[in-house]
Amino acid sequence: MARRFCIYYYFQENGAYLQQFVNSLPHSLIVATDTLANLPPQLNSEVDVVLLEYQENNPKLDRWIEKIASERQSPPIFLYLKEINTANLWKALRLGVKECLAFPIQEEEFKQALERIQPHTLTDEELVEPTRLISFLGCKGGVGTTFLTANLAYIMAHEHQKRLLVVDLDLRYGQLIYFFNARPQYNIINALENWERMDSSYLQSLLYLYGSNLYLLAAPSRPEESEAVTPNHLEKILRYLKNMRFFSMILVDTGQRVDEVIMKALEVSDKTILVTTSSIPALSNAKKLLELLPRLGLEEAGLELLVNAWQQKKDLDLPEIADFLGREVTYAVQHDPGEVDRSINEGKPLAETAPSNKVCHDLGVIAVKILGVPEAKDGFFSRLFNRLRGKG
Ligand SMILES: Nc1ncnc2c1ncn2[C@@H]1O[C@H](COP(=O)(O)OP(=O)(O)OP(=O)(O)O)[C@@H](O)[C@H]1O
Ligand SMILES: [Mg+2]
Repeated sequence: MARRFCIYYYFQENGAYLQQFVNSLPHSLIVATDTLANLPPQLNSEVDVVLLEYQENNPKLDRWIEKIASERQSPPIFLYLKEINTANLWKALRLGVKECLAFPIQEEEFKQALERIQPHTLTDEELVEPTRLISFLGCKGGVGTTFLTANLAYIMAHEHQKRLLVVDLDLRYGQLIYFFNARPQYNIINALENWERMDSSYLQSLLYLYGSNLYLLAAPSRPEESEAVTPNHLEKILRYLKNMRFFSMILVDTGQRVDEVIMKALEVSDKTILVTTSSIPALSNAKKLLELLPRLGLEEAGLELLVNAWQQKKDLDLPEIADFLGREVTYAVQHDPGEVDRSINEGKPLAETAPSNKVCHDLGVIAVKILGVPEAKDGFFSRLFNRLRGKG
């Protein structure tokens, strides 16, 4: 496909030179050419590169360059200058320009500059199997939904080398970033703001990368911004992320409020894991949700149950919980407030702060089950679980 250029010039003869240069390149097409006096307020999304003759002492031009360059979906700007020196290089950098060129433009250098701006498109080998999307829904506040989502994602990304994305849909109070001590520049609101110009490289640029395999899409930074996210937006974003086939798995922290937006997330999910503890208030909520969600259209088959912070000696045992809820407990994670709190307060996954901890071990078992990879041998928790269910 031809690369599409826009050319803006100050002197007519320089405009002619730039046009002649671009026309001499293979697979290049000039889609617009005009003088600096006629710069458009917005750039057409059909443009790949803006080639612009720079005019000194023109603050209006500087403002235009800065504005266009700051719009993430705008094409890169290449400046054509009378001469290149340190002062104008610095200025160009500050304005957000991608390359500076001077007469005569060297074809080889120009081609290299074009290669540098090429967005990363996935090769067939890089594409993963269809991405699975799993939502974690808390049946009550504080049952550990965010802790579990964050830590399972970390284990899948680091121990199993899967490319993982965690999406924070606790839209009002999103806390996921604190579990990774992350300060992302962008969040889900940026995805909505530029929806018309959305593509996979833009979406990737909104994600925060933790380590080498784990990506985060943060919740809005202010509670009032959560209103901007509609079920329709969310469905589009989640489907887009899924269809990119960049991630093996997307884990979603849906918080604990079932509203229209969250229902949409659950609908798009391949599986929903309802998180509870073994306390009576949490279990009674879990029971209500297990009845409500299928009535709202969620397939029962896609619903699983996780009992968190479970204490073998003190709490109801797992078969009793299953009896009460009328549904098998799919996963359980033991209780260890000391280490769990320490990892949360340090903003690090538990597998980093206490890799041999029992909670970490249970999370490892769950990660294996969700990923569907064969378990090397039965761990403590699976043996215990089977014994309690009368299988061991
Ligand atoms: N397995 C566990 N053992 C002991 N404590 C735990 C465990 N999991 C979570 N916790 C405790 O629960 C607290 C709440 O965890 P988290 O923030 O993940 O819950 P949440 O359900 O996401 O809460 P919120 O409703 O605020 O979003 C943690 O600070 C931690 O103290
Ligand atoms: Mg939470």
